[in-house]
Amino acid sequence: MYTQTKPTTRPIDTSFRTFSISDLDSALLIEIECYPDPWTEGKFIGSLSNKNTIANIITVGDTIVGYCFSIVCVDYADILNICIHPDYQRMGLGSDLLDYQTEQLLVTGIKSILLEVRESNLAAMLYYEKNGFEAIDRRNKYYRNGEDAIIMRQLI
Ligand SMILES: CC(C)(COP(=O)(O)OP(=O)(O)OC[C@H]1O[C@@H](n2cnc3c(N)ncnc32)[C@H](O)[C@@H]1OP(=O)(O)O)[C@@H](O)C(=O)NCCC(=O)NCCS
Repeated sequence: MYTQTKPTTRPIDTSFRTFSISDLDSALLIEIECYPDPWTEGKFIGSLSNKNTIANIITVGDTIVGYCFSIVCVDYADILNICIHPDYQRMGLGSDLLDYQTEQLLVTGIKSILLEVRESNLAAMLYYEKNGFEAIDRRNKYYRNGEDAIIMRQLI
């Protein structure tokens, strides 16, 4: 499914679309590569069946390389999951995907975007800061392993 050689420059043939159920197998493979506690098939399906979920895919050519799921809650959105396959990280694709999803979220009239990130996930925190988020709070022992979550927010 994935190219064997890691691209060394930012791919030019990226595109974005709505996540569909047929993307699930590719997403599950990326999920396992990216997280110690990956989303299950049931978690993806549960999120997709919520009418307030906005879910997008980013592709390079025909290859699915990442996805983003958010849920809209009245006047704010919560990013539930954003993930770029490790072979395609650090090329700006995660930022492009976030921009694309933010455009979809803005249409709903939200005033802010929130998310939780593991306090050990420094890469993700730097990524979110670079994309306009700031840490605003902490949730103690939020994750199953007892790790705290840092809450980050972007005001629209
Ligand atoms: C977080 C994630 C989505 C970022 O995607 P990405 O495509 O690599 O991000 P970008 O290339 O757009 O990075 C934009 C900026 O974020 C920062 N950044 C991203 N990854 C970083 C890392 N590993 N270390 C330090 N800074 C990083 C940098 O400032 C980077 O800009 P630069 O490359 O010009 O220095 C990706 O690393 C990922 O999928 N991680 C695993 C899943 C995850 O942790 N998701 C978030 C859960 S809350």
